[in-house]
Amino acid sequence: MKKKEDVICFGAGGGGERLFNTISDKYNIIAFVDNDCRKWGTFLNNVPVLPVSDIKSLVCETIILTSAPGRDSIIKQLVEDYDILRGKIITDYIDEPLETRRIFLRNLSLIQADLNPIYQVAEAGVFQGDFAACINMYYPERMLHLFDTFNGFTEADIAYEKEKAYSNAREGDYANTSISTVLGKMSNPNNVIIHKGIFPDSARDIDATFCFVNLDLDLFMPTYLGLCFFEKRMAEGGVILIHDYFADNFKGPKEAVDRFVSERRGIYDCVPIGDGISILIIGFGKALRGIYE
Ligand SMILES: C[S@@+](CC[C@H](N)C(=O)[O-])C[C@H]1O[C@@H](n2cnc3c(N)ncnc32)[C@H](O)[C@@H]1O
Repeated sequence: MKKKEDVICFGAGGGGERLFNTISDKYNIIAFVDNDCRKWGTFLNNVPVLPVSDIKSLVCETIILTSAPGRDSIIKQLVEDYDILRGKIITDYIDEPLETRRIFLRNLSLIQADLNPIYQVAEAGVFQGDFAACINMYYPERMLHLFDTFNGFTEADIAYEKEKAYSNAREGDYANTSISTVLGKMSNPNNVIIHKGIFPDSARDIDATFCFVNLDLDLFMPTYLGLCFFEKRMAEGGVILIHDYFADNFKGPKEAVDRFVSERRGIYDCVPIGDGISILIIGFGKALRGIYE
């Protein structure tokens, strides 16, 4: 039998956990490396989790990225700080869903091009702004509202998450970002409004109508509250995309969507978009006026 190639996986969070079964038939994973020092010294499926700097001492050239958020900065870190050849960094497992999502957004923006120009777009859960940059690119004329703590997950959301055993997320996960990192990725930064703080409290004063919203918050509570917040502010023909609906390791978004939709008894429909992870909620506007007016 052909010997499996040794690889290092970058990212010992949910993405690493998810990818483990997919790739372990083909590759021998000798270690996970991660920038989060709280994961160092732990094990993921019996594979050690090490600091990224340990790459220098590991006899292995191939590195598989397991998580899409922060993709470009991870590649930069590997190439510039650790002299890893770009050709030795495998991004296929994260690029395919990203590309599907990007094409979905491009096509949706074409369909929505004739909607009233006053309608705005938003993302809650921005991290380093990779998907926000796509929204800004495909909706260049619409105001883009971005919501994040820019300090990662909050204590209150994580407490609820733990109580319900929805995920192993921890307070402060995804803190490695900044407003300037995000704005630096925007092609139309003048049309971007950053709302730093705990969502949806950080959205309280917003008076706008939205045609596209992406909720990528990973956790039950902000996702559920986010749906309730945006529902009353969606245009007819507007849609909300929710990331991680199909993620085994983050059960909160699915619980939030299912609860939100079932409480509204058939007003909305959910449609998978083909990236294997996200779901779209459609039906806003017309039905909403029947309920709230
Ligand atoms: C998976 S990351 C988002 C990834 C991003 N959409 C991308 O394109 O890479 C999840 C983000 O949600 C944010 N987040 C989670 N709960 C939040 C809350 N209650 N308020 C504000 N931000 C929150 C975290 O800080 C984190 O940056």
